[in-house]
Amino acid sequence: MTYRPFAAVVLAAGEGTRMRSETPKVLHPLCGRPMVLHVVDALSELPLERIVVVVGHEAERVTKALQEQVSTDVPIEFVEQREQRGTGDAVSCALMLFDDGDDVEDDIMVLPGDHVLLLPETLATLARAHREADAAATLLTARVDDPRGYGRVVRGKDDRVDAVVEHADATAEILAIDEVNTSVYCFRRNLLTPALRRLSPENAQSEYYLTDAVEVLSAAGHRVIAVEAIDPAEALGVNDREQLAAAEGELRRRINRRWMRAGVTMVDPARTYIDATVELAPDVRILPGTILEGRTVVGAGSTIGPDTRLADTVVGEGVTVSSSVAAEAEIGDGSTVGPFAHLRPGTRLGTGVKVGAFVETKNADVGDGAKLPHLSYVGDAEVGPGANIGAGTIVANFEGATRQKNATRIGKDANTGSNSVLVAPVELGEGSYVAAGAVVTQNVPPGAKAQGVPATIEEGWVERKRRQAEQTEDSGESGEATP
Ligand code: UD1
Ligand code: CA
Repeated sequence: MTYRPFAAVVLAAGEGTRMRSETPKVLHPLCGRPMVLHVVDALSELPLERIVVVVGHEAERVTKALQEQVSTDVPIEFVEQREQRGTGDAVSCALMLFDDGDDVEDDIMVLPGDHVLLLPETLATLARAHREADAAATLLTARVDDPRGYGRVVRGKDDRVDAVVEHADATAEILAIDEVNTSVYCFRRNLLTPALRRLSPENAQSEYYLTDAVEVLSAAGHRVIAVEAIDPAEALGVNDREQLAAAEGELRRRINRRWMRAGVTMVDPARTYIDATVELAPDVRILPGTILEGRTVVGAGSTIGPDTRLADTVVGEGVTVSSSVAAEAEIGDGSTVGPFAHLRPGTRLGTGVKVGAFVETKNADVGDGAKLPHLSYVGDAEVGPGANIGAGTIVANFEGATRQKNATRIGKDANTGSNSVLVAPVELGEGSYVAAGAVVTQNVPPGAKAQGVPATIEEGWVERKRRQAEQTEDSGESGEATP
């Protein structure tokens, strides 16, 4: 690329009243990523020196989200617009960070925080056109079927731009124009600064419109040109929930198209929901109703779905997950999960593990080849390789009286019978057996069998237990669990 570096100014100070939300508009997520981050992501192909973000409404939240989630190496600075007096005022605030001694010829690209469908190649084309024409301002515009709500682009002689007229201020003649302002512009900075001083809030919204700077520059005889967006969807600004859904739908289609091109099968892309942050390997097959969120990664040849939601979950190769939910879990190569399993945070399945119907796991390390085929709860537990957890086995990890979570260790190749309860803390030795219906309250040595239900009655237990717990608390000890 032959042009000199730009600075970018992203406008993200507005409240977004039309969203009717507690959350600032630019932080509403689309495909798992806040709106304003999609805008910053679109700057990836520009050789930027700095990015200035104008914050105002809920400035701290917006700043924090950007700092935590931004993926560019370009330094980001924040400037506060205390009162949201319009897009023109917002850019004036940003320009205060720039030094008058800087190169007088330098350019800034201004972007709204609510156009999530901007393409990096469009922004690169805009920057190039601006430099090649040596323009004072270059607008990114789009021709759209429904221009309602957008500023209309008024062209003059030689196709130059004379003005942008806001919908609320437009005459019938101007409302008929189908070329709209996307709110993405390049400006020569030394011309923009004085133009902004000439703005007045005498308009339908009583705001300082950045769009009026276009008319100021053009009327002063400067060259103002326009470049049309590559994809008309780039013109979609998100002001309300309906536009949010429309923009997210388009973003989803783009994400799905990208993965299908990379070798992923989607049986019904319209019913496949993949966050922008997810990674998929070739030959992954996704069935309808699948939602993949956050830092989820799926390895080659795995089949996910139907009706499955995985969040921040790492799935190995050749895995099958159907009609299940997982969060912050790891599923090893060749494992099968579901239908109707719930893997909660801290679940780690080794290779070739089977987790079947109505099984819930949490903070559980399950060894290679182990089976949990039906109706179990396994929490705060280690399950050895090759172990078989019988239908209905429950790990009783929570001790109600002391409110403690206790650990269970199930040895390699151990077997538990149907409807058994392992009362933690407890250990089953390697190759041991637990009979059907047993309630295991003590460690089972390797190769041994545990059976029976020790349901004897202890009067006044709860009261004693409470007092004990209070005493240990008082003495500052970390109480030992005695079920
Ligand atoms: C703006 C344009 C309009 C264009 C449309 C494209 C103006 C006057 N109008 O209208 O021509 O067609 O975008 O979507 O510029 N913001 C601030 N501070 C403020 C006001 C706004 O930072 O004082 C930010 C908002 O957070 C938002 C962006 O600027 O990210 C655009 O503001 P918005 O109110 O959405 O402008 P539109 O009415 O959509
Ligand atoms: Ca807008």
